[in-house]
Amino acid sequence: MNDKNNPAQSPDTGHVWDGNLRELTNQPPRWWMITLYLSGIFMVVYFILYPSIPLVNDSTEGVLGWTQMKRMQESVEKIQAIRAPYENKIKDLSAAAILADQDLSTYTVRSAKVLFGDRCSPCHGGGGAGNPGYPVLADDNWLYGGSIETIQQSISNGRAGMMPAFGAMMNEQQLSDLAQHVLAMAKGEEHAPGKELFTSMGCGGCHGAQGEGMQMMGAPNLTDAIWRFVPANEESVKYTIAHGVNASGVEQTRQARMPSFQDQLSETDIKKLAVYVYKLGGGQ
Ligand code: HEC
Ligand code: HEC
Repeated sequence: MNDKNNPAQSPDTGHVWDGNLRELTNQPPRWWMITLYLSGIFMVVYFILYPSIPLVNDSTEGVLGWTQMKRMQESVEKIQAIRAPYENKIKDLSAAAILADQDLSTYTVRSAKVLFGDRCSPCHGGGGAGNPGYPVLADDNWLYGGSIETIQQSISNGRAGMMPAFGAMMNEQQLSDLAQHVLAMAKGEEHAPGKELFTSMGCGGCHGAQGEGMQMMGAPNLTDAIWRFVPANEESVKYTIAHGVNASGVEQTRQARMPSFQDQLSETDIKKLAVYVYKLGGGQ
């Protein structure tokens, strides 16, 4: 209703109730009527141009031929056109060459992030931050090595470091001494009786004479404070020594298997992931 109209002068339908209650035929304001007509016209034009009227299994198609699928395909094509030059380069280059190209490696890290989240973080944690029993990838401490080629090999071929079970070869006292020495080494100290055992039992053959680790064997550095198997206490270290890691035929052995991805991912994806992991850990 238009408030500006004077009710006394407004036309009415001639219906009067209760002596003076008149039914007015006041026109709505002009702007309101124009909007109403315009929206009617818009509706008719829209119905003609776009798919709109529902039919039994389908709808009218509209003369423009617009569909949601076409629109999505157009967006996908646009994105692919932006990616194509990068993707083509990645396909032909080695992981090391991708790394050397700053622009390309930035693109690669971005595009591998989702892949890492889907395929790797269930074990290695978001951003490679690690999970109990799984190595951290976001530091510069490596079991097998942090060169781009070694990382690529780890992903492509998988890894399963092996340490034999020593439980049957040692008594409780020896196990305890050796474990104490391992814990002491992590703090830059030593435990003399355990140190002798470390040498005589051949631990240095894999972990290095001073326990400094050997990447060729995937044997971790025992002189740092980074632990593969937690908690880092005597109980846990004794367990590792007694049951080994991936020791065949030892039921309670610790499990440490990195699956091989060469049959699951394309070579390009593996290269991308290698670059991504390298960048996480800051390389070697
Ligand atoms: C099922 C769990 C699991 C999944 C999934 C997994 N990993 Fe691993 N990964 C491991 C384990 C366990 C190790 C350590 C192997 C060992 O100790 O011998 C490892 C080791 C590695 C290493 C070697 C680390 C080093 O210190 O040398 C790299 C690199 C790596 N993984 C990358 C990846 C990437 C990239 C993915 C995703 C494509 C992935 N991993 C998926 C379990 C997994
Ligand atoms: C044949 C090689 C080999 C020998 C011999 C060996 N180790 Fe290991 N050890 C490994 C490997 C490989 C791992 C790590 C496996 C992994 O992370 O997947 C390991 C892991 C460990 C760990 C776990 C470290 C952590 O960060 O949690 C300890 C502790 C350890 N070894 C102590 C010893 C001691 C003590 C001896 C001697 C009695 C010994 N190892 C002999 C290969 C060996």
